[in-house]
Amino acid sequence: MANSLYDFGMIGLGVMGRNLLLNMADHGFSVIGFDKDAAKNSALEAAATPGTTVKGVAELATMVQLLERPRKLMMLVPAGQPVDDVIASLLPLLEQGDVVIDGGNSHYTDTLRRVKQLREKGIHFMGIGVSGGEQGARTGPSIMPGGDLDAYAKVQPMLEAISAKVKGTPCVAYLGKEGAGHYVKMVHNGIEYAIMQLISESYTLLQKGAGLNNDQLHEVFKSWNQGALQSFLVEITADIFLQNDDKSDKRLVDVISDKAGSKGTGKWTSQDAMELPVAVPVIDTAVAMRTLSGYKEQRLEAEAIYKAPENTIHADTEMWIKQVHDALYFATILSYAQGLAMLREASSDLKMEIPLPEVVKVWRGGCIIRSSLLEIFTQAYQKNADLANILLDEGVAYLVQSVESNTRSVIAQAASAGIPVGGFMSALSYFDAFRTGRMATNLIQAQRDYFGAHTYQRIDMPGTFHTEWQQH
Ligand code: 6PG
Repeated sequence: MANSLYDFGMIGLGVMGRNLLLNMADHGFSVIGFDKDAAKNSALEAAATPGTTVKGVAELATMVQLLERPRKLMMLVPAGQPVDDVIASLLPLLEQGDVVIDGGNSHYTDTLRRVKQLREKGIHFMGIGVSGGEQGARTGPSIMPGGDLDAYAKVQPMLEAISAKVKGTPCVAYLGKEGAGHYVKMVHNGIEYAIMQLISESYTLLQKGAGLNNDQLHEVFKSWNQGALQSFLVEITADIFLQNDDKSDKRLVDVISDKAGSKGTGKWTSQDAMELPVAVPVIDTAVAMRTLSGYKEQRLEAEAIYKAPENTIHADTEMWIKQVHDALYFATILSYAQGLAMLREASSDLKMEIPLPEVVKVWRGGCIIRSSLLEIFTQAYQKNADLANILLDEGVAYLVQSVESNTRSVIAQAASAGIPVGGFMSALSYFDAFRTGRMATNLIQAQRDYFGAHTYQRIDMPGTFHTEWQQH
């Protein structure tokens, strides 16, 4: 009976799958979830808002049979083989015109392969990035869909209903062809890594430079979140400093190991940036610092060998807090600039037609990298949708210039005191290279031609040249 069929199906009822489905149900859609784990099915039904239509089943075929045609279903399972396994078990159960969505953090090349594989069978496959964690999934995530437009039209009303809203605008938009959704999500995560690294550097600068304790750190980040640095990551950082440990009398942040984990999306961003190529050094540094954090034993050994410089930070506390604030603002803008420049390049290189003005709008709410800066970038792209780099926008340039001097001061003092601030340094060195009309790379060209006859171009006439270099 048509009226007993469900609007949407979810495969995988982990934290994200369950919360997204409950969010859909809250917006009036009838939903059904599949998980082999019966406990997850009952947990789903138990968490449903009274009056909503939510069902959990332990058989995939049952779920597929109970979906309205053309079927619309999403999988939220770990990236890699599990996605292919789900597709293999789904294929015999689906019909032409059905829409299958991968809402996880899959690599875009896998998504491209799967789009082609399912297209041959007349089934639409969409890679959709979903950001916002558990809370976002339940109350309004940022959603980054890519794939074919026909398929998007079928799920658009549902995605718009469940997404976060900024000034009434849903944080979801069609973001390009084929693997574009997962590409945009990958770069989102690269930027996420970069900003998290910069915030952790700000933390160490405030601790080591001004001796702030956790309560004071909370106050600083809380006040930053009320100003130009307003963002989800700054907001949760303020909260983190207040959390007490339930296993000791300390603050939780002080008993957490400094070895940072990762699931690979930051690394993918750097790898793909190298492939294109596009320069994203703040993201590269963020990935490298998580790796370096794992060298715990070596770092302890090195700490005993290499004494820190005697130099200390000279600025008074209030001034130092302001300078670190400005450095974080500067380097955060640089992180977005690098990620967005990467998206622009990848879009044309991989023919994905990613609309950057839409990307920054979608990132304004619901996602991990949401911040008030995205409103400024939205205005920049409104003026010029084909902006090569947001640093070239007049408004952004004004903001960057207003904090440049304090950024230089923070980095100089940190270097002199031996405080590791690789993220800030990467941001500044990218900036200095980017604003340099003639770099020193003419010498690299000369060296390449000297030892390998790789040729060079001249500034005063067209053509390609090689010189028999004289040994002196
Ligand atoms: C999001 C996040 C999320 C990601 C985590 C963990 O947008 O909601 O990006 O998708 O999985 O941030 O990533 P790492 O384990 O690699 O830090």
